[in-house]
Amino acid sequence: MKILIKNIKQLVQVEENSRLKVAGIDMKNLPCIQDAWLAIENDTIAGFGKMDDWEGISDWTNLTIIDASDKIVMPSYCDSHTHIVFAGSREGEFVDRINGLTYEQIFERGGGILNSAKKLADASEDELVKSALIRLNEIMIQGTGAVEIKSGYGLSVESELKMLRVIKKLKTLSPLTIKATFLGAHAVPTEYKNDKRKYIDLLINEMMPKIAAEQLADYCDVFCEKNYFTKEETIEILTAGKKHGMSPKVHAEQLSNSGGVLAGVEVGAISVDHLEFVGETEIKALQNSNTIPTILPGAAFFLGLPHPPARKMIDSGLAVAIASDFNPGSSPSGNMNLMLSLGCIHYKMTPEEVINASTINSAYAMDLSKTHGSIAIGKKANIFITKEIPGYSFIPYSFGSNLVDTIIINGKIIEKK
Ligand code: NIG
Ligand code: FE
Repeated sequence: MKILIKNIKQLVQVEENSRLKVAGIDMKNLPCIQDAWLAIENDTIAGFGKMDDWEGISDWTNLTIIDASDKIVMPSYCDSHTHIVFAGSREGEFVDRINGLTYEQIFERGGGILNSAKKLADASEDELVKSALIRLNEIMIQGTGAVEIKSGYGLSVESELKMLRVIKKLKTLSPLTIKATFLGAHAVPTEYKNDKRKYIDLLINEMMPKIAAEQLADYCDVFCEKNYFTKEETIEILTAGKKHGMSPKVHAEQLSNSGGVLAGVEVGAISVDHLEFVGETEIKALQNSNTIPTILPGAAFFLGLPHPPARKMIDSGLAVAIASDFNPGSSPSGNMNLMLSLGCIHYKMTPEEVINASTINSAYAMDLSKTHGSIAIGKKANIFITKEIPGYSFIPYSFGSNLVDTIIINGKIIEKK
């Protein structure tokens, strides 16, 4: 199967020499070709260039031609942080917050993550697969081509395994590239409220060996936060995760400065995510590491949190990634187009910076930047073609719109459902 896209107004994020991530001042650079062509063979990008230099294709059999006049072509978004497997919804808590309760107060009375855990315990694997597939389809239509999905609404051996098995099934059922993360340390379940040590032992001694035996997770994550897990506990859990073949990630400094970034850097985390309460110390630590700071504008927007210092991190030379945090409690949207708008409007990132953050850098945050996150020969043909628009800045500018028109994943044109 071959696809040729011709007359592309702007081919965005092209790479001659592949990069693993883009940092600091380089994030302002977004390599593009105006009036371009792109060729796809099977599931791979086979070539691209300027229409002027187009020499034709020798073998025209089995070739689909798409005319992209006045449209732009982008690599699909990589959404490196989601909780897309969940049961039910939490709009009741949304209303409670409108009426004055805080996210923390809702958790203290047994809501929040614990509310989702109660709902998930009653859901079957099939029900969870079905509802997650609907959400995966929704984000695919909005331009996402690769996604990380976390457990963490199980909080028991049985339910955490159930969630991770659901994610494993999604890998076979969805065309999207999927990475799985074990987030058993998302909250301390009510029955262990007065014996957190016992729950941590359960995570490390019972859950992790079973997860490793079934190869259910690529990453291990911890919610490092007051009333959840301390910096020391985070280090202990992530170190144990590494021994079981899971690379570390951290939910860090979301509601307070709690040591998550320093814990992540210490254990060599691939990413530290949220970062609303990051200060100078954390920025310095990140400068001497391979850990990528990831901002989640949807969650900060939905909970009304302070803005993370994205501008400062980029100006300090760091690579920054953007992800959606799609989950029922703090970000009930996986719309990456909206995340880009929020990055520009709230964090003063430029369109070039938000596109770098949500393609190559978020691919790095899930070990996918060798195969995803840019238009490069040999990379996965995960791309989207927009509606007729003037150029890439129009995407974050048009907040709330979906300008994604044609979606190609693994070299196949997706029929929209
Ligand atoms: O990334 N911060 C912790 N976890 C999720 C929220 C989970 C929830 O409220 O269900 C987050 O924001
Ligand atoms: Fe999260």
